[in-house]
Amino acid sequence: MRIFLDTANVEEIRKAARLVRISGVTTNPTLIAKENRKDAKAVIQEISSIIDGPISAEVLSLESDTMIEEARRISSWASNVVVKVPISASGLEAISALAGEGIKCNATLCFSLNQAILAASAGAAFVSPFVGRLDDVGQDGMALVEEIVAIYDYYRLSTEVIAASIRHPLHVSAAAKAGAHVATIPFSVLMQMIKHPLTDAGITRFIEDWRRSQEA
Ligand code: E4P
Repeated sequence: MRIFLDTANVEEIRKAARLVRISGVTTNPTLIAKENRKDAKAVIQEISSIIDGPISAEVLSLESDTMIEEARRISSWASNVVVKVPISASGLEAISALAGEGIKCNATLCFSLNQAILAASAGAAFVSPFVGRLDDVGQDGMALVEEIVAIYDYYRLSTEVIAASIRHPLHVSAAAKAGAHVATIPFSVLMQMIKHPLTDAGITRFIEDWRRSQEA
């Protein structure tokens, strides 16, 4: 499973990329707004200069024709930009048209297997089931990831599954077990994944034992 970072914070991306291979980045309008950045193009281009994998940037238009125009503009920002398009009737129309032009789309805000089937059928390069937001409303978000992976595998569909809306480390390991191609992870969760109390205790003990042996 590849690791994407789910953030528009450039410093977080730089830090994370020093630790492990960050294979891509997902952003959304909320994440860019959180960084107080007004110019989405500048943010995406900055991220693209750090990470060479797919960088998702989202359309805000609601109608298919304006979505397509916006997506064409967004995809021109950098060679590795993937356009995030919500799964709606307009979104699917846009994904189908954009796929025909060779523009990669990440079908976002996926909350059902049927939506994922349609996204693949429209030619989306990625589909993003939102695990945490489903959990929030009392549905099993990871079960959806498992179902999509199984059906895509069964029908040999090439759309890749990004486990999104990840809220804690257990989501990441569950996404890996479910066979998600990608988990897109907030920086804070990536940091939590590193920690284990036995690792900290082990490091301390090795240092203490070594010091003691030197003093003896
Ligand atoms: C994914 O592409 C989205 O940007 C993100 O995972 C949404 O996460 P949230 O539900 O925590 O806002």
